[in-house]
Amino acid sequence: MTKLEGVRACVFDAYGTLFDIHAPLRKLAPEIGPEAENISKLWRQKQLEYTWLRSLMGVHADFWHVTGDALDYALEHYKVHELGLRDEIMALYLKLEAYPDVVEALQAVRNQGKRTAILSNGSPSMLDSAVRHAGVEKLFDAVLSVEDVGIYKPSRRVYRHAMQKLQLHDAPSICFVSANGWDAQAAAQFGFQAVRVNRFGLADDRIPGKPAALIADLGSLAALI
Ligand code: LAC
Repeated sequence: MTKLEGVRACVFDAYGTLFDIHAPLRKLAPEIGPEAENISKLWRQKQLEYTWLRSLMGVHADFWHVTGDALDYALEHYKVHELGLRDEIMALYLKLEAYPDVVEALQAVRNQGKRTAILSNGSPSMLDSAVRHAGVEKLFDAVLSVEDVGIYKPSRRVYRHAMQKLQLHDAPSICFVSANGWDAQAAAQFGFQAVRVNRFGLADDRIPGKPAALIADLGSLAALI
């Protein structure tokens, strides 16, 4: 594995990278039935689509709003109308589990003297809740939200925001870590040294940008930097 040179901070995507976005529907699967997994996948896909559509339309709403809209779409598509279920799922989205490799990986990165941050579409209150619930608040120097910019990833303005907030003026000094392929690719195209975590076994998106490294889970991150 080729080592990345000159990294001063690791900046992590949140949803799908640190926090297990499919945990809510997995938990409620006994209630919902066999479609739970498909609902979760469609929810995620629509959530991302709505961020991209709103960014193109110039009509921003925060990630909590978009996440609720996407869930409404997915539940309607699968004709799930149980009273109270929507709110129950949304409440679970505020208490997502961290993936099992997260804590150790963050500690290892920090032990190497690198700073750590989150850069996410999530609204500040969603991120605050997720970070606290997972008990990882002390493992980050900064938790950055697109809400400060008013547009979603993969806008270059969002990636630039991380540089400004971390006061790093040289893009390759940031190692950007994401399990969302398009996010890792766009961050690479922006100029970060991007690491894609292949949690979902998906093919590369056919968009510009090539991550510097591909790892199976966060366990191998510290050895890279
Ligand atoms: C985020 C989305 C992309 O955390 O998962 O920014």
